[in-house]
Amino acid sequence: MPDLLEVSGLTKRFGGLVAVRDMHFTIAPGEILGLIGPNGSGKSTVMKLIMGIERPNAGSVRIDGVEVAGLASHQIARMGVGIVFQHSRPLHRQTVLENIKLALLPDSLLRLFTASHIEDRARAIAARVHLDHVIDRLPGTLPFADLRRLELARAVARNPKVVLVDEPFAGLTSTEVADFSNLIASFRAEGHAVLLVDHNVRGVAALVDQVLAMYLGERIAEGSAEQVMRDEKVRQVYLGGAIQAASRPAPPSGGRTTLLDVENLSVFYGKAQALDGVSLSVGVGECVSVVGLNGAGKTTLFNTISGLVPASGAVKFDGKDLRGRTPAQIARAGIVQCPESRELFGDMSVRENLDLGGQHLSRANSTRQLEWLLDLFPILKSRHGQAARTLSGGEQQMLAIARALMMQPRLLILDEPTLGLAPVILEQLSKALETLRQTTDITVLLGEQNVTFALPHADRVYVLEHARFIWEGTPERFAIEAGAQFL
Ligand SMILES: Nc1ncnc2c1ncn2[C@@H]1O[C@H](COP(=O)(O)OP(=O)(O)OP(=O)(O)O)[C@@H](O)[C@H]1O
Ligand SMILES: [Mg+2]
Repeated sequence: MPDLLEVSGLTKRFGGLVAVRDMHFTIAPGEILGLIGPNGSGKSTVMKLIMGIERPNAGSVRIDGVEVAGLASHQIARMGVGIVFQHSRPLHRQTVLENIKLALLPDSLLRLFTASHIEDRARAIAARVHLDHVIDRLPGTLPFADLRRLELARAVARNPKVVLVDEPFAGLTSTEVADFSNLIASFRAEGHAVLLVDHNVRGVAALVDQVLAMYLGERIAEGSAEQVMRDEKVRQVYLGGAIQAASRPAPPSGGRTTLLDVENLSVFYGKAQALDGVSLSVGVGECVSVVGLNGAGKTTLFNTISGLVPASGAVKFDGKDLRGRTPAQIARAGIVQCPESRELFGDMSVRENLDLGGQHLSRANSTRQLEWLLDLFPILKSRHGQAARTLSGGEQQMLAIARALMMQPRLLILDEPTLGLAPVILEQLSKALETLRQTTDITVLLGEQNVTFALPHADRVYVLEHARFIWEGTPERFAIEAGAQFL
């Protein structure tokens, strides 16, 4: 069968950086091609070039034999291409149903159809991605996985021949990953051509027919998932080794001094209770991990500690009650949160974002800290002058973590730090956390659902479920007693 998508000689430069160089591949109907590679290797750029969101400097993109390179993205959409973006971008004032209807509408041809036809079709798409039970809700009220489902629904609304899916699994639990895999496999069954990017290597390998690995904008390997994962270069630049924790320093005899003491916190958003009588304590130098599925309340807990969300109950830091303090005062006291939403200054450069983090440090201290962080995340060094909003997904995540570390916090709160990071970067981050713990008395509160990452670092683990802690213990016991739904 002729290929549905044919890419050749595709090249994209951003100033002096060649983000994509001479890329070529084809995808047949009913085929899924997995595109893997380290953060910043050009995967999302390839998708944006195919979709016409970025204009290629050179090269050809053919959809079902028709050249589309250089066309505007709405024209390319009409030729039969749909994209699921790395980050969900729903229209927030519109309900789920309206969002799907709008995705159906832009094509002027569809105006010929009756309103009831569009309504029926939108409902059918919602049902297909399992959004039927939330069809009248606003996106802002949806759990994370449902937002991703909505993004998927909008991408396939007009039944595109070619579906581009950028990191569908990031932030999803293993059950949700299985559900999304089935949906993506169903596109294949219907004869679509699918291009899939994700850092969940197991998820990708189980789903794809072929894999293409990129590094620094170029192809470095291709073949079956198994072949590519075995490739020496792919192992070296992308997969890295397994995550290992250095031997855990024994807790000081006589116990640790408590640094953070959270007592009986409750939070309501309107009528919905997001935290219900939550208590936790973290000792100086300890790494405590809070694991919980999406929507369990982790981010609310961290935001409450940082003073961003009003709550009943008490938060004590270093023996002092934080009640009535502003988020800025809490940050100055030494609690620094690296939020899941990153909160970077998009128009400022990488360097400026980092300098802001270190502004309270002495000149010498901030220079030393900056050097250490740029060694830790070398890609930030090579992107130091670039505006934060143009960084790749993983580069933004690294910048957010680096900026938090720049502040030299006493308590570092990391909310889902592994989101969107390549395996090799997880390994580096993991080593960095160990170095920090061995060379400083930093205390870490780590919110994760990626327990493979969280457990090796944790002294103690709390499991948050439906706004409450349901389990507390050591990482060793976690695997036996509480891990079933996470491992
Ligand atoms: N508008 C832009 N200006 C300058 N550089 C850019 C721009 N857009 C992307 N880049 C750079 O191009 C490179 C490729 O980015 P891309 O988003 O394609 O990476 P990626 O492979 O999707 O990475 P990730 O896995 O982290 O999402 C990155 O280093 C990024 O910083
Ligand atoms: Mg990307």
